[in-house]
Amino acid sequence: MWGGRTGALSRVWGLWPTGVLGRKPLSCNAASLEGNNSPHCWNCGGPGGPLRGDGFFCPQCSALQPPDPTRDHFSLMDCNRSFRVDTVKLQHRYQQLQRLVHPDFFSQRSQTERDFSEKHSTLVNDAYKTLLAPLSRGLYLLKLHGIEIPEGTDYEMDRQFLMEIMDINEKLAEAQSEAAMKETESIVRAKLKELTDNVSRAFEQGDFEKAKEILTKMKYFSNVEEKIKLKKIPL
Ligand SMILES: *[C@@H]1O[C@H](CO)[C@@H](O)[C@H](O)[C@H]1NC(C)=O
Ligand SMILES: *[C@@H]1O[C@H](CO)[C@@H](O)[C@H](O)[C@H]1NC(C)=O
Ligand SMILES: [Zn+2]
Repeated sequence: MWGGRTGALSRVWGLWPTGVLGRKPLSCNAASLEGNNSPHCWNCGGPGGPLRGDGFFCPQCSALQPPDPTRDHFSLMDCNRSFRVDTVKLQHRYQQLQRLVHPDFFSQRSQTERDFSEKHSTLVNDAYKTLLAPLSRGLYLLKLHGIEIPEGTDYEMDRQFLMEIMDINEKLAEAQSEAAMKETESIVRAKLKELTDNVSRAFEQGDFEKAKEILTKMKYFSNVEEKIKLKKIPL
């Protein structure tokens, strides 16, 4: 598995300095672009398209293959499908993937490969951002289990929680000093930390309804955090 990836990596780096990036593959059949799901290389028709392992590059002609539309963020980022994610590993994987597919490396290649590299790069960025932040990671994980949180679910929240949010918004609106802002910020951070721990436990126990409830709360606090960030920007 790793052999394939490092193979692809060394292909990119290996080709770079020798100036053969734009070379035509030797066994080049007519390019056929039907369907991104084809297990065959779009360029040479060889086997080993996007469905084989990481399969970013054709093992025969080394052409960049289209993204696999059925692959989820966890699989792309080499993470277990779990709320607990090793963010250091995630970062390394992100850098590794960008070294493979970043559009800068394809400026001398065909238009098709340039388009694919843009698509890969966008997907990799999306996957990285989604899995990095606990809230978006949790929401994504829920979605993979078929559960989504619709907008405007205020009426489902308990009164006590809504009062708490109102209080904190009020505190923020009234905050005139930097110290007052910092205090509100640390309250929000502590809440988010606690909710992150709690949602992690809920996912571990496979309690998706509980996870949904906690993530909804996280959304509220995360909105307050955004407001704090905006307020910090000097006008
Ligand atoms: C993924 O889960 C397996 C089995 O639970 C574990 O052995 C492995 O270390 C995990 N991998 C990562 C990257 O956390
Ligand atoms: C987190 O879970 C604990 C134990 O269930 C609970 O007492 C606490 O209120 C929860 N925290 C938040 C912010 O909901
Ligand atoms: Zn090929």
